[in-house]
Amino acid sequence: MFLVTSKEVRRLVNESTITPGSGAPGAPIGSVAVRTFATHQPMTSAHTMKTMDGLHVNATAGNEMGRESTHFAAYDEVPEGHFYDPDAEYEPDPEYAATLAPDAARQRRERIGPTGRPLPYFPIPGPLTDHGPAKIIAMCNQKGGVGKTTSTINLGAALAEYGRRVLLVDFDPQGALSVGLGVNPMELDLTVYNLLMERGMSADEVLLKTAVPNMDLLPSNIDLSAAEVQLVSEVARESTLQRALKPLMNDYDYIVIDCQPSLGLLTVNALTAAHKVIVPLECEFFALRGVALLTETIEKVQERLNPELELDGILATMYDSRTVHSREVLARVVEAFDEHVYHTVIGRTVRFPETTVAGEPITTYASNSVGAAAYRQLAREVLARCHAE
Ligand SMILES: Nc1ncnc2c1ncn2[C@@H]1O[C@H](COP(=O)(O)OP(=O)(O)OP(=O)(O)O)[C@@H](O)[C@H]1O
Ligand SMILES: [Mg+2]
Repeated sequence: MFLVTSKEVRRLVNESTITPGSGAPGAPIGSVAVRTFATHQPMTSAHTMKTMDGLHVNATAGNEMGRESTHFAAYDEVPEGHFYDPDAEYEPDPEYAATLAPDAARQRRERIGPTGRPLPYFPIPGPLTDHGPAKIIAMCNQKGGVGKTTSTINLGAALAEYGRRVLLVDFDPQGALSVGLGVNPMELDLTVYNLLMERGMSADEVLLKTAVPNMDLLPSNIDLSAAEVQLVSEVARESTLQRALKPLMNDYDYIVIDCQPSLGLLTVNALTAAHKVIVPLECEFFALRGVALLTETIEKVQERLNPELELDGILATMYDSRTVHSREVLARVVEAFDEHVYHTVIGRTVRFPETTVAGEPITTYASNSVGAAAYRQLAREVLARCHAE
């Protein structure tokens, strides 16, 4: 059971109808479609409540049903009743927010971060005078919906804000990265698929400029799923992406590859091309399940195909400092991976699903939000790790 206050009702009404791409608010209360995304409350039944304004509202708490598919249902219309999203309040945990403020660096030198370790200071990187050769990062986890695409877009945008030239590679046939940057994958004639499969195709023909200065995109769409099959008969099939990216190396400082949720040939191609892997892990009960298989795959690629490959870090995502569960999962992840876990932890907020609808990174969509600050801190931490080498 939970309460819906009249303020929340007004908010639900104001933020009600959303069709992907439009973001237009304002349906009548009778047919409200409320933005939704996976939450972790136990299932409760729908309740009808009368608010102080005399409005009747049906409210249903989040549930664990269809855990794997809930994120695909983001922004689906909820035909009956409201979906009460406790995270929609946008009020960051003040303690967590404080750890993200770069100017508080001196005070927090001895502060304990969300991972339970003293939080180091990640300096704001200085400008670059020349660019390249690129460091290639694969954003990889075969588990679906852990924040790979969100992290690719927002880490990329934050690195670009710090003056780094960034190329994002959509390496998932679902094209979520392309959608998240406002591109309609279905309308594309040329995608990363053509770059991989057609000899003589130059990257310039496929590259798209994004709305973020310094950040370009190699888009993809469903065509890429054919590559997985067609590549099998190619010579040196695992290094096709590496060869395709080679001519671009001197134009960029960072190339970030958004992998699909599988450990198939496309992901192996991404790992073969990469210098670093970032593994996003959702702070949720089964987070560590499957990670052994992933690290095994990384080790195999290291041994057989790409000795340069390194695990840069494990990124805890969708962390909710208010729940014991999230804190426990994060503690276990730190126990398992120790210094591999980034000090930066990405909190759970509806602002991320919103950015997908808006088709832009959180750093521009909600520049002052805690989510944007978190990805800027991640960018500084990634840069600090690279410079430390
Ligand atoms: N920190 C966060 N807080 C709340 N929601 C988030 C957060 N990060 C991502 N999401 C949402 O969770 C869903 C899954 O995220 P995302 O698409 O980035 O995961 P993914 O690992 O790329 O998924 P897939 O495996 O399907 O490619 C999206 O709806 C996204 O908006
Ligand atoms: Mg994705």
